[in-house]
Amino acid sequence: MRELADVLRETLPGRATDATRRSAEALRDTYRSGSAPATLAIADAASAAAYAAYRMPATRAAIARALASLVPLWETTDPPRTHLDLGGGTGAAVWAAHGLWPGARSRVLDASEPALALGRRLADASGDAGLAATEWELTRLAPGTRLPNADLTTVSYLLGELSPELAGEVVGACLASSRVLAIVEPGTPRGYAAVLAARERVLASGWRLLAPCPHATRCPLAPGDWCHFSVRIQRSALHRQLKDAELGHEDEKFSYLVAIAPEVAGVPGAEQRAAEPPESRVLRHPLTRKGLVQLRLCTPEGTVRDEIVSKRQGPRYRLARDTDWGDTFPAT
Ligand SMILES: C[S@@+](CC[C@H](N)C(=O)[O-])C[C@H]1O[C@@H](n2cnc3c(N)ncnc32)[C@H](O)[C@@H]1O
Repeated sequence: MRELADVLRETLPGRATDATRRSAEALRDTYRSGSAPATLAIADAASAAAYAAYRMPATRAAIARALASLVPLWETTDPPRTHLDLGGGTGAAVWAAHGLWPGARSRVLDASEPALALGRRLADASGDAGLAATEWELTRLAPGTRLPNADLTTVSYLLGELSPELAGEVVGACLASSRVLAIVEPGTPRGYAAVLAARERVLASGWRLLAPCPHATRCPLAPGDWCHFSVRIQRSALHRQLKDAELGHEDEKFSYLVAIAPEVAGVPGAEQRAAEPPESRVLRHPLTRKGLVQLRLCTPEGTVRDEIVSKRQGPRYRLARDTDWGDTFPAT
């Protein structure tokens, strides 16, 4: 598979046009407004190009991080054969999924024809037969939507564009049709709230959380705090122009969950995982001082605590030193 950055550089205009600049500003205003857009945000070719240039590399990287938690499961059992991507837009999740499971057959549902059209062009240029075989379907998710069955369903940066009622229905439909579900939202209080609402439905349906939570009890974060992670991406020249940005990189903050259906929890790979020693989740950038590493951890008991690991602890210290925000860390 070719690099997404190279394909974007070849497919999109080399320099920001007035139309893509205006579209990027409009998209930014929509996403910053903190409420679901009244009409589709990606409404024409210029806004699809702007989205692909300044959002898609970041959403793809965030989804890839979330999906990485499924690698141990699908190393020991059959990898996903079918992948459904809801509100898939220009195909960020398809690129992320095919980077890990090239044999998957993907299907993208989205209400924006310009986003789907650009997604198809990018996938065709990927040099990857599986990715190019993706089906792109114009579909508006609405109350009562039923979904096709899939081994893996991804829902990235979509729930915030729906009313809370419709978002709940969409998650419910995923739980009825899929075996594994990955949801990614912006790493903001609002994105976290959407993930938390989905988490309640997931647990109420008897599904098991694989990540990021190491427990299935109430989220222990204090009011005003929100669970989110970060991934660094390089900005292209067009990306920098559209954002009037100088730095060559940016950090995408995201909230997410990955969950498996009860029947998947019984397969050998999943049971093996369940038998592994419990692990906590690192919730912040570790703080390092001379001979000490301080980790903020969400624990298997459903608590948040700070652990200070000192050099005297030998292997645990070396492990802590190599641990990053978002990683797991042995609970004991
Ligand atoms: C922020 S974009 C996310 C695109 C892609 N999933 C990603 O992570 O980059 C939201 C996408 O959801 C689509 N969308 C919004 N409401 C929708 C609906 N009711 N049914 C289907 N697609 C919808 C939009 O057209 C847009 O492509």
